[in-house]
Amino acid sequence: MFEKKTIRDIDIKGKKVLVRVDFNVPLNETGVGDDTRIRAALPTIQYLLDGGAAVILCSHLGRPKGGPDPKYSLRPVAEHLSSLIGKPVKFSSDCIGPEAKEAAEELKPGEVLMLENTRFHAEEEKNDAEMARQLASLADLYVNDAFGTAHRAHASTEGVTHFLPAAAGFLLEKEIKYLGQVIANPQRPFVAIMGGAKISDKIGVIKNLLTRADAILIGGGMANTFMKAQGLAVADSLVEDDSLGIARDLFEEAGGKIHLPVDMVVANQFAADAESKTLKVQDVPDGWRILDIGPETVKAFRAIIATARTVVWNGPMGVFEFPKFAEGTFGVAKAVADSAAVSVIGGGESVAAIQQSGLADKITHISTGGGASLEMLEGLELPGVAALLDK
Ligand code: 3PG
Repeated sequence: MFEKKTIRDIDIKGKKVLVRVDFNVPLNETGVGDDTRIRAALPTIQYLLDGGAAVILCSHLGRPKGGPDPKYSLRPVAEHLSSLIGKPVKFSSDCIGPEAKEAAEELKPGEVLMLENTRFHAEEEKNDAEMARQLASLADLYVNDAFGTAHRAHASTEGVTHFLPAAAGFLLEKEIKYLGQVIANPQRPFVAIMGGAKISDKIGVIKNLLTRADAILIGGGMANTFMKAQGLAVADSLVEDDSLGIARDLFEEAGGKIHLPVDMVVANQFAADAESKTLKVQDVPDGWRILDIGPETVKAFRAIIATARTVVWNGPMGVFEFPKFAEGTFGVAKAVADSAAVSVIGGGESVAAIQQSGLADKITHISTGGGASLEMLEGLELPGVAALLDK
């Protein structure tokens, strides 16, 4: 259940609406790389335009150091958006100040204005009230559709809600519905798959999942830390020695819920063309490193996933950027896609893996949030959501 007001609940006709989107997308020489996050915000933008609002978009891009930096300009994103919606997108080279004010004042219903990167002001990340007030002064209403940034309490995500009536966009609503549902009220069995390099980033998530999931399947670099904590020598594999104690505790606390790899693909160097071999879980020979889960593990994980009615997946099972070490990740992607469970995938790399595997349309919900989806799985309240008006 989504308990915040959405754009359906507010009167938008003839209003200027400041919309916080997460257009923190990869850029390349020709413009925008993966535009999933931009496309995901289109239903909200289109709804507002069709309903007679003037749309003022704001976002951050990258992590500039609190001042303007052309490398992180949203200008190419505005151009890309214009090609997607088939109408001009005006641009202000500052998100606050006289240029933004004038552009916002001149904006007519049905028109779109995009503001430059909010992080070109250090005040954004400090959730500075004066910056929030200036942003708010551009519009009559505020809509947050930036799920990917909803875990940040910044001027454009949280501060601004103190100055304008604030509602959720369709993307934010959809994300919270799916992620909230799997955490609060999953259909059982509920299987969580966790991967990626580090356990230290995901301790809170694993702890919360231990109380909620029926099984947690662990692969990727973080599995190495669990294996070393069980007393195995992992040689040159990526390991977080600082987290060995917590890995041991989590494994004990799990009482059999945590499933670790039973075999692994090891390499003699970290390279796409490394020499490789598959081993049952055992001490890794000196000079070798684990780069993927093995075929027996994929089989075992697949069998568990097949029994699930809810699956959540975050983080790859190995170094899937190297084709030789991608089979574990793609095998798990296929298992999730083949299962009849409600499936939710979050986190940039697992999302990229499911997209590369061509199975994305078999997934119930692919999140546009990395950190934000993890915080949801950790059971935390997202400040950008909490700040919106209640229904
Ligand atoms: C993301 O890509 O996860 C969001 O856009 C948030 O970006 P940040 O981690 O730089 O705050």
